[in-house]
Amino acid sequence: MRYLRLILLALDPVYLMKQLSLRPYKYQLSFLKDTSSRIVVKAGRQTGKSTAVALLTIQFAIMPNKTILIISPSLRQSSELLRKIRRFVSRLDIPVCKDTSSELELCNGSRILSLPASEYTIRGYSAHMVIVDEAAFVPDTLYETITPMLAATNGRLILVSTPFGKKGYFYRAWLDDGFSHHEFSVNDCPHISKEFLDEERNRMSELAFRQEYLAEFVEHENCVFPYSLVMGAVVDADDREMGSYANEQSFYCGVDLAKHVDYTVFVVVKEIHGVLEVVEIETYQKIPYPLISERLKKLHSKFNFRRIVIDATGVGEAVVDMLKWDSHLPIEPFVFTTRSKLELIEMLRVALENGELKLIRNQRLLTELTMFGVEEHDDHVIALALAVWASHKIKKPKAFVFGGRI
Ligand SMILES: Nc1ncnc2c1ncn2[C@@H]1O[C@H](COP(=O)(O)OP(=O)(O)O)[C@@H](O)[C@H]1O
Ligand SMILES: [Mg+2]
Repeated sequence: MRYLRLILLALDPVYLMKQLSLRPYKYQLSFLKDTSSRIVVKAGRQTGKSTAVALLTIQFAIMPNKTILIISPSLRQSSELLRKIRRFVSRLDIPVCKDTSSELELCNGSRILSLPASEYTIRGYSAHMVIVDEAAFVPDTLYETITPMLAATNGRLILVSTPFGKKGYFYRAWLDDGFSHHEFSVNDCPHISKEFLDEERNRMSELAFRQEYLAEFVEHENCVFPYSLVMGAVVDADDREMGSYANEQSFYCGVDLAKHVDYTVFVVVKEIHGVLEVVEIETYQKIPYPLISERLKKLHSKFNFRRIVIDATGVGEAVVDMLKWDSHLPIEPFVFTTRSKLELIEMLRVALENGELKLIRNQRLLTELTMFGVEEHDDHVIALALAVWASHKIKKPKAFVFGGRI
């Protein structure tokens, strides 16, 4: 009886989803029924990509002695995905023999590994199936490490992502006949309402909406921060020298305060030997003033900032005044004018072009950077620029070259 149930879970995605109280979406089912060895899924934001990845993993892991490697752009995303899988496995009553922060081993000998996208962390594994979640956001070089992993086992490669530019392995896979193709359309997604989509369409630029929700591959090359510039600056956290916070390192923070519907974003950069690295990004929606102050104090006790620069335009002015009054943080206001914004953005572009700024694989930051100038949402870009500004103010700013497209 138990055996029959496991077979049903592995072979019948409708049964599997119903056991988890999930609605069997048509597009998720056709993906879960596809047994091709190469699959690429292009999908809009929030259409249930990670849920589908978790379900596929479980279906496959029910067969004994399989190794499944799931790769996500960041450690946070890979941990979240494993948490989802762990929750599903427990609700399905599938026996687990080993459970660590990055691995789940079922008692049938199958292993599920969920790792961030870094050659260092994934090297050395052999797998029967590799799934890459948000595949457009992992570095192309990683695929050179993945393909040999599947060679010995004749394993499967599954790529699932929101599109990100007409470039890279994910885009080429979408054009490749060797892959089986699926699309999760936001218009077919039962949990996304038409009203919500209309709101998002009004809020976002057309280009961003087409990329994020309609899952179209759009050009980024004519933007202020071209795709190649942005992706070229990404360094994976695992590949960095983290070390303790030694004497020669200084930390700076940029804060963009939410105005209406947007986010409050804190970006922390580390300066070491003239090079800046993003080390932390915190994003909050609708955070009240006392919590901003609390978050800043917490971050300050961790990083001991030399300077914190905050957007003090409009209501920001009062917030900055209150923060200064309320704490002894090294806060400085930045007031946005057309000219100061141009300078700020130009400085950011120059830092990227000169290789003086290294980014992390934060999807929101990368998306906003490549969409900057065409997309209104720029909270992460502004917070980053303010953090870079904070460090430059100490070094004495260089002469800025104007003429960039804003
Ligand atoms: N088949 C389904 N039935 C009900 N809810 C679902 C289903 N698939 C996804 N969801 C829900 O939709 C939301 C987004 O899913 P997620 O897999 O995180 O999407 P994505 O990875 O595309 O952003 C989550 O709250 C998830 O629980
Ligand atoms: Mg997801």
